[in-house]
Amino acid sequence: MKTILDLIVEELKPAFTGCGYDEKYIRVTVSNRPDLCEYQCNGAMAAAKAYKKKPIDIANEVVEKTAGSKMFSEINAVMPGFINIRLNPCYLASYVQQVAEDEKLGLNAAEKPETIIIDYGGANVAKPLHVGHLRSAVIGESIKRISRYMGHHVISDVHLGDWGLQMGLIIEELHDRQPDLVYFDPDYTGEYPSEPPFTISELEDIYPAASAKSKVDAAFRERAQQATFKLQSGYAPFHAIWKHIMNVSLKDLKKNYGNLNVSFDLWKGESDAQPYIPGLIEDLQKKGLAYESDGALVVDIAQEGDAKEYPPCIVRKSDGAALYATSDLATIIEREQDFHPDRYIYVVDKRQELHFIQVFRVAKKAGIVKEDTPMIFLGFGTMNGKDGGPFKTREGGVMRLENLIADIDEEMYRKIVENRSVKDKDAKDTAKIVGLSAIKYGDLSNQATKDYVFDIDRFTSFEGNTGPYILYTIVRIKSILNRYKEEGGNLDAGEILPAVNASQKNLMLELTKFGNTIENAFEEKAPHKICAYIYEVSNAFNSFYHETKILSEEDQAQKESFLKLLGLTKDILEKSIDLLGFSAPDRM
Ligand code: ARG
Repeated sequence: MKTILDLIVEELKPAFTGCGYDEKYIRVTVSNRPDLCEYQCNGAMAAAKAYKKKPIDIANEVVEKTAGSKMFSEINAVMPGFINIRLNPCYLASYVQQVAEDEKLGLNAAEKPETIIIDYGGANVAKPLHVGHLRSAVIGESIKRISRYMGHHVISDVHLGDWGLQMGLIIEELHDRQPDLVYFDPDYTGEYPSEPPFTISELEDIYPAASAKSKVDAAFRERAQQATFKLQSGYAPFHAIWKHIMNVSLKDLKKNYGNLNVSFDLWKGESDAQPYIPGLIEDLQKKGLAYESDGALVVDIAQEGDAKEYPPCIVRKSDGAALYATSDLATIIEREQDFHPDRYIYVVDKRQELHFIQVFRVAKKAGIVKEDTPMIFLGFGTMNGKDGGPFKTREGGVMRLENLIADIDEEMYRKIVENRSVKDKDAKDTAKIVGLSAIKYGDLSNQATKDYVFDIDRFTSFEGNTGPYILYTIVRIKSILNRYKEEGGNLDAGEILPAVNASQKNLMLELTKFGNTIENAFEEKAPHKICAYIYEVSNAFNSFYHETKILSEEDQAQKESFLKLLGLTKDILEKSIDLLGFSAPDRM
C-alpha cells in the first residue's frame, strides 16, 4: 500500500501543476516540529529558484489551490516558504484501518526480490563464544530478519573459524594429556573410534590451557603449528580428531546461538572452502593478477582515487600456507556456484575492514563476483564496559557469552520478583525472555558502527529507552485485550474511528510510519532505526493509555475502535521486536 508521504505528494500534485509548477519539486517529510504541524512540504523552496519567485508566494498559491481537500485538516504557508500540514482525523483513521488490514502492516515489500548472503556469527570452533561474537550474532540476525520481511531470499551462513591454529593446539594438548590414544600411534591402522575422546567441558578446558601453554612454550607452539599443517594436508588421524572437535563443539554452539534466538541456514566454515583454494590460486595466476613478492603470492588492490594506501592482498604465504583472505575468497567461489547471490552482507568487527576491502576487490578484479554485485561490509564497533575499556569480567578476564547472559537473567529475575509475586518457575522463564530483550535492544539501539557501553543496570531497567520497557508496553496491551476478551468482548468487531484526543492522533500517526521505518532500516542496514521507532510508538501508546479510558468507555463503537488501535499497536510492536530478534512474554 502507498505510504502517507506518497499520498500527500499525490494530493499536492494538482495544486502544484495547477499553479504552473512542475510536480518534481514536491518534497514531503514528517515534520520535525510536531508542535507546529505533522508533515511539511518544502517544494516551494525548491521551485523558487527555478521560477525566480519568492518561496512564500509559491507556497501561498499552492495552499490556496488545495482548498476543499479532504485529506488535510490544516494546511498553511509559513515563512520563508514551508507548507505545514495536518491530516484530517477521518482520513487518518481510514488509513490506519487499512494498515491494520494489510498483511505487511503497511510495508511495501521489495519489487525485485534479491538473493542475499548474510555472513555473520563467525564463531571459532572449540573456543568459547565471547562477547565479541555477540554483536555479530545479534546484528546479523536482525539484518537477516529485516531482509526477509522485505521479501528477499536470504541465506545466512555462520562461517565458522574451523580450520586454524586452534585445531593444532587442541590436538597437541590432547596428545600431552592422553598420549595413548590411537590417533597418536603412528602404527595404528584400524578404524578410528566414533566416540569423541573428550566432552564439551573437557574441550572447553583443553583449548585455553593449550593456548596459554603455547605462549610460554615455544616447542609446544611449534608442535601445534606442525599438527595444524598436518591436519590441513589431510593426515587421517588428525582429521579424525578434528571431526570430533567439530561435532562436540557444534552441538554446543547451536545450543548457545539457540538461546540467543539466532539461527543459520548454513553451518559452513573455513574448512568447506579449502577445496576451492587450488583453483582460485591458479585462476589468479592465469589472469596475471597474482605475483610473487618476498616469496609470498599477492594481488594488488590499490585503486585510483583511494584516500589511503591499501597494501596488496596476500593469498599464499611464503611457506605455502593459505590465509584468512584466501579462505574468504574461496568461500565466495563456493557461494557463487551454489547461490548466485545478488548481494553479500558481512557483519564483522570493524577492525577487520581492511581484510574485507582486500577480499572484495580481489573478488571483483578476478571476476569471481560481478562488478555490480554489492558486497557490503557492515563493520560493528566494540562493546565496552562502564570504564570505557573492552567489556571484561569482574576479575578482568575475557567475558564468556554464557556468563554474560546468566548475569543479565539474574538481574532481570531480581527486578521481576521485586515487581510482583508470581510462581518461581514462571518468573525464571520470564526473566530469560526479558533478559534477551535487554541484551539485544541494548546493543541494537546503537548505530552498529559505533562502540557502545554495555550497562546492565540501564539495559535491564523497565523505564527509558530499553528492551524491557518495550516489552512492558506490549504486555500492558496484551493484558487489556485479554481482559476485554474475558469479559466476553469480540476483538474482531468494529473499526478504527477518528482520534478523540491529541495523544490518540499522535499514536495513529506513529503507526503509519512502520513501513517506511522498516524499508529505511533495510536500506541503511540500521536496526537502530527500528529501536528508535518502537520507542516512539511505546511512548505514544503510553501517553494515549494514560489519557484515555479504554475498557470503561461507554460508547461501544468507540470502545471497539480503541481496542482495534491497541491490537494494531501490539502487532506493530511485536513484528518490530521479531525483526530485532526477540519476543515478548504474556505477563511480566
Ligand atoms: N571467525 C572470525 C573471527 O572470529 C570471523 C569470521 C567473519 N566472517 C568472514 N567471512 N571472514 O574473527
